[in-house]
Amino acid sequence: MNEELRDQVRDRYAAAARTAGAGVSCCGGESADLTGGLYDEAERSSLPEEAVLASLGCGNPLAVAELREGETVLDLGSGGGIDVLLSARRVGPGGRVYGLDMTEEMLALALANAEKAGAANVDFLKGHIEAIPLPADRVDVIISNCVVNLSVDKPAVFAEMFRVLKPGGRVGVSDVVAEDHLSPADRAERGDYVGCIAGALSFAEYREGLTAAGFTEVEITPTHEAAEGMHAAIVRAVKPRSASPGRELPLLTEPGGCCG
Ligand SMILES: C[S@@+](CC[C@H](N)C(=O)[O-])C[C@H]1O[C@@H](n2cnc3c(N)ncnc32)[C@H](O)[C@@H]1O
Repeated sequence: MNEELRDQVRDRYAAAARTAGAGVSCCGGESADLTGGLYDEAERSSLPEEAVLASLGCGNPLAVAELREGETVLDLGSGGGIDVLLSARRVGPGGRVYGLDMTEEMLALALANAEKAGAANVDFLKGHIEAIPLPADRVDVIISNCVVNLSVDKPAVFAEMFRVLKPGGRVGVSDVVAEDHLSPADRAERGDYVGCIAGALSFAEYREGLTAAGFTEVEITPTHEAAEGMHAAIVRAVKPRSASPGRELPLLTEPGGCCG
């Protein structure tokens, strides 16, 4: 079941990569408007048009990531690469930005966009956000834009985020989050899984999942409503400097069998 769902997600985003720039939206689409004017003119005009047109996120994680020169950044579910390319500018030539995506077509699009942008300090990795192909304690900052909700195993994603972050490393993620009173069925009524709605965690589930993985200073701030009771939100968290491994993960009941 999880594999099937993941294949559906991959197919959806492979199709989105093939038609990038043709007005096809994936997060949102028919069921919800998640985009909400994410990037300012200066950010958009600094990038190749193709990278901007390929943007499928639901927020702007860089607005809170406070990237510094020389830092190493990881973008989970990097899609066409917009947040990788913007991050690459901020961390400068002494920094490095990894984009991780499971969809070949998206990786090809991101590589082409990086080449057009002349970005030399970026790497695109093929893999799953539930098993990040990087060693422990490698990155300073994890960003992501409308991807965690698509995962079929969210506790694994949170545990992997914790593993690859350096002690003191931070998380700045945009995602769709459900109000706590909405049941999995309520969420599924508001939109489909591949469209970033049905798989969304609630505020409490998100906080609990990150805390269980070992994160502290968890903050979830809604930015705009994506569907009734479902919000695009910015999620922040920190890996403590003296980090101990997260405690046993709780069983969260939520849509799509993502946390069983
Ligand atoms: C909604 S798009 C967002 C793309 C990009 N972050 C942006 O803002 O334009 C979701 C992306 O996440 C990728 N993705 C979804 N689930 C994934 C997973 N479990 N592991 C790796 N990549 C995944 C998809 O291939 C797709 O490129």
